[in-house]
Amino acid sequence: MAETYDVVIIGGGPGGYNCAIRAGQLGLKVACIETRGKLGGTCLNVGCIPSKALLHASHLFHSAQNEFAALGIKTGKVELDLPQMMAQKEEAVEGLTKGIEFLFKKNKVEYVKGRGKILGKGKVEVALADGGTRVLETKNIVIATGSEPASLPGIEIDEERIVSNVGALSLKSVPKKLVLIGAGVIGLEMGSVWARLGSEVTVVEYLDRILPPADAEVAKEAEKTFKKQGLTFKLGTKVTGIEKQKTKLKVSMEPAKGGVVETLDADIVIVAIGRKPYTEGLGLESVGGRTDKRGVVEVVDGHFKVADGVWAVGDCIHGPMLAHKAEDDGTAVAELIAGKAGHVDYNLVPSVVYTNPEIAWVGKNEEELKAAGVEYVKGKFPFMANSRARTNHETVGFVKILAEKGTDKILGAHMIGVGVGEMIAEVVLAMEFGAASEDIARTSHAHPTLSEAVRQAAMGVEGWTMQM
Ligand code: FAD
Ligand code: NAI
Repeated sequence: MAETYDVVIIGGGPGGYNCAIRAGQLGLKVACIETRGKLGGTCLNVGCIPSKALLHASHLFHSAQNEFAALGIKTGKVELDLPQMMAQKEEAVEGLTKGIEFLFKKNKVEYVKGRGKILGKGKVEVALADGGTRVLETKNIVIATGSEPASLPGIEIDEERIVSNVGALSLKSVPKKLVLIGAGVIGLEMGSVWARLGSEVTVVEYLDRILPPADAEVAKEAEKTFKKQGLTFKLGTKVTGIEKQKTKLKVSMEPAKGGVVETLDADIVIVAIGRKPYTEGLGLESVGGRTDKRGVVEVVDGHFKVADGVWAVGDCIHGPMLAHKAEDDGTAVAELIAGKAGHVDYNLVPSVVYTNPEIAWVGKNEEELKAAGVEYVKGKFPFMANSRARTNHETVGFVKILAEKGTDKILGAHMIGVGVGEMIAEVVLAMEFGAASEDIARTSHAHPTLSEAVRQAAMGVEGWTMQM
């Protein structure tokens, strides 16, 4: 008789691999099935990690060209070695994916290479990467199959000239003219990379603003800053087609509300209009599972449970499509299976956009609070008045803290500025503990640090900001 697992996880991305490791730690017998030949999912292979490797390297390249001289650093001619920049990115990816294999061994997780398909309750068939099939019997199935790029009707992604995140992270040369469809997170991060390396970048966005989930005031500041960095935005505009010519692409677009068609030449087009859950060929229906009209795997308990003994985590369910959210989902499900408590508060999952300056937020923004009729008080502090930011000549942006009127409970924090991707963690922790803005305002922050801006913004909620 085939041996029975406690948990079989389909998908080895942040949702799946964290679920597997935590289940292993808790003494459960666990297997994780992954089809791409490497662990780490979208995040490690074609998402978070390679994009951050290119953002870091392209930032240094741009700084060496444009900022070093003013700091008294003379360089020779700064030149781009794109193959080496790509190689260091691959090295980071390789090291981290291998690291997960090591963690699997350490925590006694069996790594099954192949494509998983649910056959029914407690049964998963794997089309093995090396050929043949194997059926795993299990008490619990965890679906962690992630997401894939959304596409535009009539526009075929070939990953050479019309690319998704996959091709955008591996271009062989710097495109002279780059068009990005979508001014969301990928649009801004990839637009920044290629603009720093020399591309003429145009970002076409359907809505009349960039970065829709961000606080509007932050998004406005971001738009102004990225324009100064050379990005061109075409807001309120929809792409209607792309004609592939021999040496270039002709991108047709018109106002979102309809109107005069205009065309733009491009060498490369990056399609970044969002992602959709990936459940192709999964056999979800065999356990009575369903997806909604956007393809999101439906849960029956409001959180992770799909059916009896079937759970789902990460990008393929509701909530933000972020790696740390997937990780937390995976951990919570492993704990639930082991009979412990497991819960993730999606309101307290921070978002970070790794541009320069960075953009970060957690909790509710002003528009959401207004729409919900919640009365709030705002404290805001600009980096222009922060001594460390001024010392470093990096004064763009601000920190904004929103607290409930009457109770002073922190409801949200919204930041744009160098280093805010790290600074947001302080507010997330404060909110986890149900802190008031005064708790941050009365907490000692080292001087001179950028984090003093968070304290000064918190002081601003009760009107006693001192450094401005
Ligand atoms: P995935 O990472 O997509 O993993 C799912 C895995 O399941 C895949 O490896 C897939 O091959 C496998 N799979 C699917 N079906 C099967 C099957 N039937 N059998 C076996 N295996 C299967 N998030 C952040 O928090 N920070 C960032 O900086 C960030 N940057 C990003 C940059 C880009 C360009 C992109 C595209 C995404 C980025 N994200 C970022 C989002 C992040 O990558 C995802 O939220 C995260 O990877 C979701 O994890 P997951 O485990 O749910 O799914
Ligand atoms: P997104 O949802 O962030 O942004 C998509 C943008 O495209 C939106 O502004 C939307 O209005 C616009 N859009 C939609 N349809 C359009 C159309 N037809 N024409 C023009 N614009 C259109 O999606 P994106 O950038 O593709 O990223 C996918 C997801 O990956 C993100 O939502 C995020 O969850 C994750 N991600 C996270 C990162 C991070 O945490 N730093 C980095 C990159 C991706």
